Amino acid sequence: MKLSNVEFRAMNAWPRRLGQTYFELPLFQWLGLDIKGKDILEIGCGNGYGASLLNKWQPKSYLGLDVMEEQIALARKGYPQFEFLLQDATDLGQIADASKDVVVIFGVLHHIPAWRKALDEIVRVLKPNGELFLEEPRGVDLKVFDFFFRWGHPNSDFGLKTMEAHLDALGLKFQKQWTPLLTMYRIRKG
Ligand SMILES: C[S@@+](CC[C@H](N)C(=O)[O-])C[C@H]1O[C@@H](n2cnc3c(N)ncnc32)[C@H](O)[C@@H]1O
Repeated sequence: MKLSNVEFRAMNAWPRRLGQTYFELPLFQWLGLDIKGKDILEIGCGNGYGASLLNKWQPKSYLGLDVMEEQIALARKGYPQFEFLLQDATDLGQIADASKDVVVIFGVLHHIPAWRKALDEIVRVLKPNGELFLEEPRGVDLKVFDFFFRWGHPNSDFGLKTMEAHLDALGLKFQKQWTPLLTMYRIRKG
């Protein structure tokens, strides 16, 4: 789902970059993110700043996708050297089965009412033993943000518990690290 204007502004302001650079990416690395020489897909790539961080590790290929035209326009303008696609994560039909080593998500599933479908698609495009590095907020934190800052997240049954139950049902193995505001996951298909 598209971001509200207020969240769009927040996602494209400099504090977001600090969080991604000094908090979220190091935590993914601490969990074992290793993308050198691998085929990478980033879901909900936003303005492309995540692409600039991930590509420092020299993946074999990188593709970032996002459902918002405004975000993809910013990404293509800011980082013309990387590949971006305007695409809904619930339909990755343009991406072949078992073609990605690693999928990375910086806080996106909670924006997708059909988040189960997006996870199913991610699992389809991951290679056997491929990994998903995922961060998402707790439902309670989303409610607090929406109450105070009016970010207007979609109404859905998304929550860490429901998401973990779906990952279990898909037979995925995961480890997680809780932090204030975000929970970071390393998830393996296989
Ligand atoms: C909270 S923002 C995070 C953006 C970026 N990953 C970051 O960390 O700054 C969520 C992003 O997910 C995108 N998004 C929402 N629903 C989506 C969907 N169904 N498919 C792909 N991207 C989606 C939004 O357009 C937005 O760019």
